[in-house]
Amino acid sequence: MSSEVYRASVPSNIAFLKYWGKSDPAKKWPTNNSLSMTLDKCRTSTSCFLDFSLSDFEIFYDGKKIKEGDFFQKIRKHLCFLKSTFDFPGFLRVETSNNFPTASGVASSASGFAALTLASVAAWTSSSTFLELSQEGFSIQKLSSLSRLGSGSACRSLLGGFVLWEKGPSPDEQRVKKISCDWPLMDILIVLKQGEKKLSSTEAHVRVPSSPLFSLRMSQIEEKQKDFEEALKEKNIKKLGALLEQEALEIHAVIMTAEKPFSYLLDETVAFLSWMRQLRQKGLAQVYFTLDAGSNVHVICEEREVSNFLSFLKRDFPNLAYIKDNVGKGPLLTSSKA
Ligand code: PMV
Repeated sequence: MSSEVYRASVPSNIAFLKYWGKSDPAKKWPTNNSLSMTLDKCRTSTSCFLDFSLSDFEIFYDGKKIKEGDFFQKIRKHLCFLKSTFDFPGFLRVETSNNFPTASGVASSASGFAALTLASVAAWTSSSTFLELSQEGFSIQKLSSLSRLGSGSACRSLLGGFVLWEKGPSPDEQRVKKISCDWPLMDILIVLKQGEKKLSSTEAHVRVPSSPLFSLRMSQIEEKQKDFEEALKEKNIKKLGALLEQEALEIHAVIMTAEKPFSYLLDETVAFLSWMRQLRQKGLAQVYFTLDAGSNVHVICEEREVSNFLSFLKRDFPNLAYIKDNVGKGPLLTSSKA
């Protein structure tokens, strides 16, 4: 029996061009390509230990054993899928935690499923490095596809920097690729509200194609992807910012006009966005927003704007919590004796 513990530390990511709708839900085949920035500080750490004395998976979250509930079921389902697909022997003891508050607006399912996939496959194949994993048939591309089946956006968290998730011509030809760009952008997440979002992204993906705005979105999406890639290549913050804000508002407009409409936006969100616009119009800070399926705001800017922006934030919203992050290099894998 292996006595090694395999530990994955995987960052979350924030999408610039959003995954919003699926053509094939079972294979997590998105309706469009998406592009994201991998974060650096907001991470999930997951360690896995292969224990042949176990008759089922043992799962610990933040040091506490969990045996039921949605979160437990999702983890167990993904582990069972990996075990049966690759005929892996034995069960794992899994310990996982996030270093950021869950439901704060950082996508914990992205870092969570990528970390779970990476650590569990490492434990089952006794691989301590990415090279060993790839020699066992688990390249980053493969691990990314497996992570995607847990949560779509997780596939982008296994690469660092700026990442494109290409839908490809069929569900089995999807791939992720790194965009060559070394721009040290920041993401300051403004936590306007903590707590579970009221509509899961899984359900939102099902609803969005019913919006009359959806086909318009699809007709422009390739052009938009090109524009995003150009803005990154040119390191043009003004161009990137305009695209980010348009895209964020567009995905919210789409879900707000779906057959079963829903709004994630709070009055506080709308007020915060207009405060940011005013800062910009007055020439006080060059900061731009993006939004995920939630009410919290991600402020994207260049490094030199941060202290300036934070001083206005503290002046005008002294009680707001925020998480300061930046573009990161991607996942880490280590192993040690149990
Ligand atoms: O990966 P999911 O199913 O949680 O969907 C993520 C959807 C968005 O966060 C809104 C956009 C994205 O591309 O991450």
